[in-house]
Amino acid sequence: MATATLDLQGLNFNLSEEHRAVQEAARDFAQTELLPGIVERDNEARFPAEQVKRMGELGFLGMMVSPDYGGSGLDTVSYVLAMEEISKVDASCSVIMSVNNSLVCYGLEAYGTEAQKQQYLTRLATGEQLGAFCLSEPEAGSDATSQATTAEDKGDYYLLNGTKNWITNGNSSDVCLVIAQTDREKKHRGINCLIVEKGTPGFVVGKKEDKMGIRASDTHSLLFSDVKVPKENRVGEDGFGFRFAMATLNGGRIGIAAQALGIAAGAYELALKYSQERKAFGKQIFDHQAIQFKLAEMATKIEAARLLVYKAARLKDEHKDFVQAAAMAKLFASDVAMWATTEAVQIHGGYGYVKEFHVERLMRDAKITQIYEGTSEIQKLVIARELIR
Ligand code: CAA
Repeated sequence: MATATLDLQGLNFNLSEEHRAVQEAARDFAQTELLPGIVERDNEARFPAEQVKRMGELGFLGMMVSPDYGGSGLDTVSYVLAMEEISKVDASCSVIMSVNNSLVCYGLEAYGTEAQKQQYLTRLATGEQLGAFCLSEPEAGSDATSQATTAEDKGDYYLLNGTKNWITNGNSSDVCLVIAQTDREKKHRGINCLIVEKGTPGFVVGKKEDKMGIRASDTHSLLFSDVKVPKENRVGEDGFGFRFAMATLNGGRIGIAAQALGIAAGAYELALKYSQERKAFGKQIFDHQAIQFKLAEMATKIEAARLLVYKAARLKDEHKDFVQAAAMAKLFASDVAMWATTEAVQIHGGYGYVKEFHVERLMRDAKITQIYEGTSEIQKLVIARELIR
């Protein structure tokens, strides 16, 4: 599809040569290295270790991190372009990429100490190590301030106890950002974010989730039992952990919005191609108006989602307030992804319901974009609060 080139609220949507090069590199990588074996990886819920290694080598795991810390030094627009292309094919790889880039690397670069950046960010940005972001708990999903996990202040270390749920990269990560309550009286202002390394005594990887979609990404519960975390592993000042999580998730939501956009666009491209190959009633199904109308509506909604995603990314790059724009982009793009993938299955008819045509996987993958990094309902809450702020 053609790329938008209009100007909205003073934002320039033209893509630079560099942007186009990133887009093309991501597209090539997705088509040549992610597409082969994708049905098997999905069936077996097999972590794409080889593909993730390649993402690191190609600079997709630390896209916005400064080259001083091993990153690619690119902007958010480049990041969403890459996310879109990779998500058109493999949403499992793109969530691994998104969590590492926009939650873990961004969080450490924006709020970590120089020592934390040297020790952790440099490895995470190159893909030598992988990160996980641990906020959700069995009893704290949308209601994220209700943290049951505790990080008791023991002087020169924190004693971490609790369980985190639905953690992306749960087993495959080396470094975890763990949100936990230190001082319950201070409510969300008594929450901290701690960097916890795998292998720390008392830190155990729990159950692997058997998921509807993004099946190749590994989602686990993580268990912490009297885990000693040195004080120097706290990110930000004492009590900053919840605001850290919120600030980081604002950017994360742009990544997931781009993922949803990619899933929708991937399904649309497959449906458009199929409609020009498949014949029914003596002509290509594209020549039936019922199919044309579906494709026209899909193209329109996907383009609208793309504009919202680019707008949020541009605002972030220009250091303007992007909280509402990110929530709008995620809310709209995830609904478009769910709807457009369902339409793509419908256009494929019986073939759409079987795995080798890819659209049923994209439909299953789409659903999670309405849930993680803040459900659609939470995005509406964020948008509404910004309306009267
Ligand atoms: N940006 C920056 N700061 C924010 C913020 C935002 N979007 N939203 C809230 N805050 C700040 C507030 O300003 C406030 O700070 P102060 O005390 O300094 O004023 C503090 O956070 C508490 O905010 P509220 O009083 O508004 O808290 P609340 O309980 O009423 O609402 C919420 C908070 C917006 C509902 C929040 O809990 C939320 O976003 N929930 C969704 C959680 C979520 O997105 N989870 C995703 C899990 S991670 C994941 O999915 C990763 C993966 O694996 C793919």
